[in-house]
Amino acid sequence: MFEDLVAPEPDKIIQLMAMFAEDSRTEKVDLGVGVYRDPQGCTPVMQAVIAAEAQIAATQVTKSYVGLAGDPGFHAAMRELILGDAVPDERVAVCATPGGTGAVRQALEMIKQVTPGAAIWMPLPTWPNHPAIASHLGLSLRDYRYYDDGSGGLDRVGMLEDLAQARAGDVVLLHACCHNPTGADLLHDDWRAIGDVLEKTGAIPFIDMAYLGFANGLEADSEGTRMLAARLPEVLIAASCSKNFGLYRERVGLTLAITSGPDPRAAVAGLMAHLNRQSYAFPPDHGARIVQVILGDVTLRNMWRTELHQMRETMNTNRAELARALRAETGSNRFDFLAAHRGMFSLIGADPAQVEVLRRDHGIYVVGDGRMNVAGLTPETMPVVARALALVLG
Ligand code: LMR
Repeated sequence: MFEDLVAPEPDKIIQLMAMFAEDSRTEKVDLGVGVYRDPQGCTPVMQAVIAAEAQIAATQVTKSYVGLAGDPGFHAAMRELILGDAVPDERVAVCATPGGTGAVRQALEMIKQVTPGAAIWMPLPTWPNHPAIASHLGLSLRDYRYYDDGSGGLDRVGMLEDLAQARAGDVVLLHACCHNPTGADLLHDDWRAIGDVLEKTGAIPFIDMAYLGFANGLEADSEGTRMLAARLPEVLIAASCSKNFGLYRERVGLTLAITSGPDPRAAVAGLMAHLNRQSYAFPPDHGARIVQVILGDVTLRNMWRTELHQMRETMNTNRAELARALRAETGSNRFDFLAAHRGMFSLIGADPAQVEVLRRDHGIYVVGDGRMNVAGLTPETMPVVARALALVLG
């Protein structure tokens, strides 16, 4: 059966992780996969997580199954964190999934099942796994203009022109904040304009919220999502707790579907549980329980918010520092956009050949499209990286 099998190409982020692991140079710098690092270069377990795990270990009396959709306490805590009171609970179906990728997969599975003819509109560019999963499921894809290479900001006119072409029932993928890979986010007026277009076309937003709290704070980062949730009858959300709780390997994510009322909500909740059952039956619980404990305890919640704030500050400091160092190295302000971006990623404007030179000659790993994880920089590596970028990018 497997004699003639050719393994699929791993995606470029996963490929880069393997190359970095195999590189024996001690001075190598990992600015590839989206993992936060503190100024010492570590990806620490958050103190709030350590405390919640201790509490769970001391009190948990069983590891028996929870439910196909996960724990209702986890649903409620995350629904409140993401949506606040933007929409009545009775309209929102929630389901735990293995990580944010599991949530993206589940949302796309739902679209395929319910409305197989819908086109999925994706920003150009987007996280490579978005089109990969949608294509794997046989969904039809459309691109919309999003990023303007020249300015390092949004192509606002192009984006709205393209989205106006969507048909009723099509799905528009949006990044809630910390756009991956560009770092260029939608502002308040952009969300409002997108809401207008969606209202006019009848297309449905599907929001990927992988980095809540990493851009400008928990409330600010969910503002656009809440605005659409309050305005539109249906919204899909795939959320992740990998980054903001530092729970990468625990696989904590969830799908939320805002529906027009309690009856469709119940039907969607049933579909979500069914889809979990078909794939892996029960979603993982340990990480979701950690999140639930943290969000349900005032002291732990405050501790977590403080740690999240520190992570955000580190990333924003790295951005400002890198832009400043590049100004000094190049004598120009052409990299100033790095300071205006938010989250882990920015496109540094390197072509694949330049990415290769960075890796081969300088041991600096960025993704092939020029995506750099600024959260991977430390005070020690910052000047080395700035010098190499100035040299290679000219
Ligand atoms: C990334 O974009 O680097 C992260 O979201 C990790 C992943 O799964 O690709």
